[in-house]
Amino acid sequence: MSDVQNVKVTIDGVDIMVPPGTTILQAARMLDNDSVPPAMCFYTPLTESGGKCRTCLVRVAAGSEKDPRPMPKLMPSCKTTVMDGMVVEVKSSPKVQEARAGVTELLLINHPLDCPVCDQAGECDLQNLAFEHGKAGSRYDFKRSEFEHEDIGDTISLNKERCIICYRCVFVANEVCKSRDHGVVFRGDHAEISTVISENLNHEMIGNIIDVCPVGALTDRTARFKSRIWFANQFDAHRDCDKCCGKTVVHKQGDEIIRVSARKDKWGEVENWICNTCRFEKKDNADWTIEGPRKIDRQSVQSLNHYEENTVPVLTS
Ligand code: SF4
Ligand code: FES
Repeated sequence: MSDVQNVKVTIDGVDIMVPPGTTILQAARMLDNDSVPPAMCFYTPLTESGGKCRTCLVRVAAGSEKDPRPMPKLMPSCKTTVMDGMVVEVKSSPKVQEARAGVTELLLINHPLDCPVCDQAGECDLQNLAFEHGKAGSRYDFKRSEFEHEDIGDTISLNKERCIICYRCVFVANEVCKSRDHGVVFRGDHAEISTVISENLNHEMIGNIIDVCPVGALTDRTARFKSRIWFANQFDAHRDCDKCCGKTVVHKQGDEIIRVSARKDKWGEVENWICNTCRFEKKDNADWTIEGPRKIDRQSVQSLNHYEENTVPVLTS
């Protein structure tokens, strides 16, 4: 039995005991209610991620039992560890809601409103954030950043103007691929994701940057413009693969596999990284053993068009 003492944290009036070292965001996810802050840069499987986007800000109304003073500023919940007796406000704090709306406005400064033609629409974290916290207008009067669309390699497409500089794709290259040919160049308002001059991204695991990208900046060239996500049906599928676990989600329109991606958990985080061969090259039905319809836990248009045993309507007459 562990002799580590759990600590108590209260989030929007609900108490939970968590191990020391847990962040506020992780504690909120353990509660799994509507107090969970959004997270556009933190990504559990990527150890360096978090602390970049500020969408997860919360108010710490009491720092701990020993020192119950409130923290003077809103804190990024993905990087702030809980203390025993900490009291946190998320949905109950108007300041947090106001800050989230401000961060959303900031993230949308350069982001084009091209959801109607963006492959990420329907599974885009920024689209969801804007839906809940976006304002009708922007206060930004300056020229927006403009970039030419680039293909970075045979399989990955980059739309820089959609990028929110969350660094997730950089950490995938660092931590999953162990080699990196791209990164964030320049600073501040000029920051942009870019490859080393004329370098293509071709590591066997690099396709995972598509799945971690919270917006439509990195998309799959083999599936580009094939279908809106809500017209496709998602299935859990697997194959014997000597490079990765081979457990994926295949996106089918009719009988055609239009896209293959990694499986994600209810927080939108990849469960197992998959290789480029499974992702880009295996588009025949014969390549895959279909396990059944993918259960999409989060509220998403992806869960439309799905059929499951307990949701099949029963005709009585
Ligand atoms: S390309 Fe996507 S994953 Fe990479 S930094 Fe930009 S938004 Fe993040
Ligand atoms: S998710 Fe915490 S700062 Fe981005």
